[in-house]
Amino acid sequence: MDRLKDGFVMDLKSRCSFSQIASKYLELTKKGRNYWARCPFHYEKTPSFTIDEYEGFYHCFGCGESGDLIQFIRKMENLSFMEAVEFLAKMVGVEVEYDKSVDAKAIAEKNREKKEVLKALNDAKEFYKKQIYAKTSVKAQNYLRDRRINRASLENFEIGYSPNFQAVVRSLNELGYDNQTLVNAGIASQKDGKVYDAVAERLIFPIYNNYCEVIGFSGRILDKELDVPKYKNTRQTIVFDKSRAIFGLKQVINAKREQRFNTLILAEGQIDVIMLHQFGFQNAVATQGTALTEQHAMLLKKICDNVLVCYDGDNAGQKATFRALDILQKAGLSIKVITIPNGQDPDEFLKKNGKEAFEKLIENAEELMDYKIRVTAQSFDMSSNDQRTKFLKQAIDLIRDLPSLALADVYVRPIAKYANVSENVVRESLTAQMSTLKKEKKATDEELKQFSENFVDANQKADKIILASMVHKKPYVTYDQTLAFVSTNYQRLYQWLLEKHDSNTEFRISELYDHFDLENDKDIAELINFHFSSSEEKDKQEYLNSLNLNKIRALEVEIKDLETLYKNATDLSKRTELLNKIGNYSRELTRLKTTFIN
Ligand code: UTP
Ligand code: MN
Repeated sequence: MDRLKDGFVMDLKSRCSFSQIASKYLELTKKGRNYWARCPFHYEKTPSFTIDEYEGFYHCFGCGESGDLIQFIRKMENLSFMEAVEFLAKMVGVEVEYDKSVDAKAIAEKNREKKEVLKALNDAKEFYKKQIYAKTSVKAQNYLRDRRINRASLENFEIGYSPNFQAVVRSLNELGYDNQTLVNAGIASQKDGKVYDAVAERLIFPIYNNYCEVIGFSGRILDKELDVPKYKNTRQTIVFDKSRAIFGLKQVINAKREQRFNTLILAEGQIDVIMLHQFGFQNAVATQGTALTEQHAMLLKKICDNVLVCYDGDNAGQKATFRALDILQKAGLSIKVITIPNGQDPDEFLKKNGKEAFEKLIENAEELMDYKIRVTAQSFDMSSNDQRTKFLKQAIDLIRDLPSLALADVYVRPIAKYANVSENVVRESLTAQMSTLKKEKKATDEELKQFSENFVDANQKADKIILASMVHKKPYVTYDQTLAFVSTNYQRLYQWLLEKHDSNTEFRISELYDHFDLENDKDIAELINFHFSSSEEKDKQEYLNSLNLNKIRALEVEIKDLETLYKNATDLSKRTELLNKIGNYSRELTRLKTTFIN
C-alpha cells in the first residue's frame, strides 16, 4: 500500500464538491461562479479567499495561498498528502486504490517502519506523561514548581518524566514493541547488548513535526550535575532530524487555528517557549540548541511570514545570530529582533517583569539592519580612531549589498551617529567602497550579466503570461503554432496542455495538482495564482505580445543554428538554400519585432 493507483486522486476529486466540503470549515458565499470566504490561512476581516468549484482549486488574493481540494484538506486537518487522500475518500465513501507494484513495496516497508516508530514514540510520550503524576516523582514535581511551569503548560506541552533507565523500555515491551523498534525510534540506546532509556532520569519535552506527531524528545536534568549535558535530545532517526526539529510546532499550529497570527517568536530554549506560551505568547517556537538551518527556516515560513527573533541576550553568539538571521531572510521571512536586557533569556525576563514588559520589548523590536548595525557598533570603542574606521568598514559592508543606493542611504544616519562622524563621511566611504567593488569586477561583464538578466526576466514573464492564459482558458488563447519554452517545467506543462487541446479533451485546473509537483514546482503553482488585470482587452494584448516574444526567441535560436550550418556547408546549392532561409527568418523576425502592441 501507500502508493496510489494512477489517476485515483483525480477520480476522487471529481466525485467531491469542493464547496460542499469547504463549507464544513468555512462560511461560504457564492458570487458569480466562485465561492468566497474569509481566508483560513491568514487573518482577515473581509473575504479574499475564493474557491473555483468548476476548476477545483482555491486561491486567496490576500495571502497568495492556493491549492486543490487535497491541499485544502491537508492544511485544515494538518495531514500528510496520503492521509488527506484517505481522509477525503472516507468522507465521501470511496475505497482508496493503491498501486501494487514492486517499487511500491519497498516504500510501503519504509512507511510501515515509520508508522511503527511514530506509534512507539507516541506511546513513550504517554508513558512519560503519566510518570510526572506518580508519587515517586516528587523531584520532578518540585522542579516544575520551582520553574513556575503551571498545570496548563504541563498539559499543553505534554511534559513528562523518565524516572529511570528501564521503565520506558519495560512499559513499551509490555505494549508489544520489541527492543529493535525502541532503538529505531531513538527512545532507547544500546550498549553492551543492553537497551536503556536514552533520556533517562530527565524531565521530558516531546518534540513534534508539522503534522503534530511526536518525533523525539528533549530531556532536561533536574540536578545541577557538572559532567552531564543539561539537555539531551533524541539522536537522528528515521523520523527525527535536529536540523528540522522545532520545539513548540504543534502548540503554535493549534493556536494559529484560533488566532490566525502571521508572526512567530523564535526563542532559543524549550523553557523559554513554554513560558512565552504560559504568559500568552502562543506564537513562540525554538530550535533547541542547534544552529538554525535552512530547513528550519522553510518550516517556519510554512506557518508564518514574519519572525520576531528573540535570542538570549549574551553577545557571545553574535556571528551565529547574524548567520541565523541571514538564513531566515533568505527563506523570505520578514524579520525583527527583540533584545532582552541584562543578558536574560525570555523565561527569566517574563518571570521577573511580566507580560506587559515583554509586549514592550516586542513593540520596540528592531528592524534587521538596525539591529545588525547597532550590535556591530557595540563591539568597537569609538573613542579610538582606528576602531572607528574599522567599524565604518564593517557597517558599510552590511549595507552595500542592499538592492538600491537609496535603501543603503537610510542607514547612513545611524552609522554616522554610532561612529560620531558626519553623514557625509559615511556617504563618501559608501560610494568609495561601491566603486572599488565595481572596479574589481569587469564593468563589461557586469553589464552583460545585467543585460542577460533583463532578457531572461522579460522572456520568463512572457512565458508565464502565455501559459497562465492557457491554464485559465482565456478566450483569446490559440494553439495554432508550436511554441517553445526554456524552462523544462514550462515545456512539460505546454506539452500537456497541447495534448489536451489536440485531443479535444477538456481539462480542469485541479488536474494540474495530479500531474505536477506543485509544492516544489513553484513556477507552475504561480500560473494557477496568476493575477490577470481587470481588463480582458489589456490581458489579451499582453498575451499577444508575449506570444510574439516567444516566437522571436525561437526564431533567433533558429537563425543562429542556420548560420552555423551555413558556415560549415561546402555545397554551393546548399549554401544558397540556407541563405534564403536565413533571409526569410530574418524578415519574419523584423516583422515580429515591430508588431508589439502598446
Ligand atoms: P541554554 O543553555 O540557554 O538553556 O540552552 P535554557 O534554555 O536557558 O535552559 P534552562 O532554562 O536552563 O532549562 C538553550 C537551549 O539549547 C539546548 C536546549 O534546547 C536549551 O533549551 N541545549 C542546551 C541542549 O540541547 N543541550 C545542552 O546541554 C544545553
Ligand atoms: Mn533558561
